[in-house]
Amino acid sequence: MNGFSVDWLAQREPFDRQARNAAAALFDLPGLAARLRGSASSLTVLDLACGTGANLRELAPRLGSAQRWTLVDHDPRLLAALPDALAPWVRTPGLVEIETLRRDLAQPFDVSLFARHRLITASALLDLVSAQWIDGLAQCARDAEAAVLFALSVDGGVEWQPELPGDAEVHRMFVAHQHRDKGFGLALGGDAVHHAAARLSSLGYEVTQAASHWQIDGRGGEQSTAMLRAMIEGAAAAALEQQPSAFTLIEDWTAQRLDAIEWTTLRVGHRDLLATLP
Ligand SMILES: C[S@@+](CC[C@H](N)C(=O)[O-])C[C@H]1O[C@@H](n2cnc3c(N)ncnc32)[C@H](O)[C@@H]1O
Repeated sequence: MNGFSVDWLAQREPFDRQARNAAAALFDLPGLAARLRGSASSLTVLDLACGTGANLRELAPRLGSAQRWTLVDHDPRLLAALPDALAPWVRTPGLVEIETLRRDLAQPFDVSLFARHRLITASALLDLVSAQWIDGLAQCARDAEAAVLFALSVDGGVEWQPELPGDAEVHRMFVAHQHRDKGFGLALGGDAVHHAAARLSSLGYEVTQAASHWQIDGRGGEQSTAMLRAMIEGAAAAALEQQPSAFTLIEDWTAQRLDAIEWTTLRVGHRDLLATLP
């Protein structure tokens, strides 16, 4: 895979944050944190594929009280950008302790790493991985008796308004591209949350899901139009890689979508999943 840029992670973060509001309210995260912490001095959280720390910035204030986070990613550029991304955010030194680790999560799981954490979390990761990877992760979490929170996994739904010719065809190619191997075996794409929920339930977890869709409105100013542009160009590039013979259709679609950007709304379906042991 080509990797994720620091700029792209920063661009998506405000949309991620807004999308996660409803799910966070449903999950009672302070209650979850209190239960998981028990009599320990702090809650231990393992963030898989942390990027530049967006999941930490979103979750830590919602969980509350003392926390110790281990942030794991394989990309040295993203880990190097973490301190700068976190600097404006870390206002209360001591409340959240942070350790970063460079690890390739496509390699066999480090069981001792999981065993040290009460909450295993990841954001915007699940749709990149395979069924086997999710099965292994779920078993590892179960063995560690940890709760699991997967945020912002795409669910395959995309809704453009106004609709334009080529939407369905480009979406079909884009979805096929999503299922390509992203380094973890054939990716589940929009089927990942369903698979994770079934596997975690079969291991005795109580699973709750909540919608966390991106809502992007072209009338929302420069940040929104830039995001729409990125979505159009990203979808077109993936579709072209998937089906080069559809070049003309994809080129026409891109031009029409870019022309309509200022009166376009886009909903990209995502789900958050929380799994806890009774
Ligand atoms: C879409 S980004 C999400 C980043 C972050 N969680 C967020 O919400 O902004 C996917 C992340 O998966 C990481 N990743 C991809 N393959 C990986 C692997 N084999 N091992 C560890 N991290 C990986 C990327 O480096 C990137 O940080």
